[in-house]
Amino acid sequence: MTAMTYRHLQLRRVAGALGAEITGVDLGALSDAAFVEIQRAFCEYSAVYFPDQRLTPEQQCAFTGRFGPLTHHPLIATLPGHPHVAGLVREADSTGMNFGGSWHADSTFMESPPFATSLYAIEVPPQGGDTLFASLYLAYETLSAGMRELCDRLVVVHSAAAAYDPDRGANDPKKSLIMQKGMQYNLTEDPKKEMEHPLVCVHPVSGRKVLWETGVYCLRFRDMTEEESAPLLNYLRRHIANPNFTCRMGYRPGTLGMWDNRAVQHFAMNDYAGYRRVMHRVQVGGPPPVGPAMPVRTVTTASQTATVPVH
Ligand code: SIN
Repeated sequence: MTAMTYRHLQLRRVAGALGAEITGVDLGALSDAAFVEIQRAFCEYSAVYFPDQRLTPEQQCAFTGRFGPLTHHPLIATLPGHPHVAGLVREADSTGMNFGGSWHADSTFMESPPFATSLYAIEVPPQGGDTLFASLYLAYETLSAGMRELCDRLVVVHSAAAAYDPDRGANDPKKSLIMQKGMQYNLTEDPKKEMEHPLVCVHPVSGRKVLWETGVYCLRFRDMTEEESAPLLNYLRRHIANPNFTCRMGYRPGTLGMWDNRAVQHFAMNDYAGYRRVMHRVQVGGPPPVGPAMPVRTVTTASQTATVPVH
């Protein structure tokens, strides 16, 4: 892809695979022309971050809401008075698993998972606490033709059970998210609920295919057991985490990071024991993903369909 030019912001690529740092903009007072370029950069680089911002929760919501309607994570508590802002808190003395501390894409157990997430740094450790991103475009494009053809035909059953269901070990403080000190959960959806999405999705803006394996939320392939599905899912997970497909986003207080949940997996580093980290997280809803194995989706919770041509 040819890199595009930007007139209303400065953009620095941070890795060969994906990711860009954007400066020269104030997200709290953004012109329409600058926003159009940010939208373009978001799709071109899949993960972007803006250092040195000063945003209230309202301003973070106003900026993120320019991408589309805000939704909320169905399992994390939001800040009082801010129904779209989830607080991600890890205390200095927290131990065990951190929120987001494995490769995943966000909330893919939902029928219409968020297409974008913004994360605003309130309090960060002096070092560590970065987020890693992996390009699911590159993950797909580097598979062999035979494996791409197989993946194109598969449908994955997603659920939040592995992370949030006490019946699957979510009460174990070493493995579980919901037992961690600092975080507040609000399980408004049944974590056992299952949702099908195509393994290969077509990105609605770029038209490119992505390998939409989303980590902990992918339980099994449709019409297969978990045991039968595990070898291929595990192979794809190792493939996606290839360092050549990744970039790394670091934070100072006031950094806002944003990622395209249709095109990346991410991983919150857990390398800052003894320090507190507080982030505000806002997400944008999107239509359900479509791909060769599920070219048309009819949303059951709203009268909405999404289609893509299948090649
Ligand atoms: C997330 O997975 O939504 C959070 C990522 C992070 O805290 O770095």
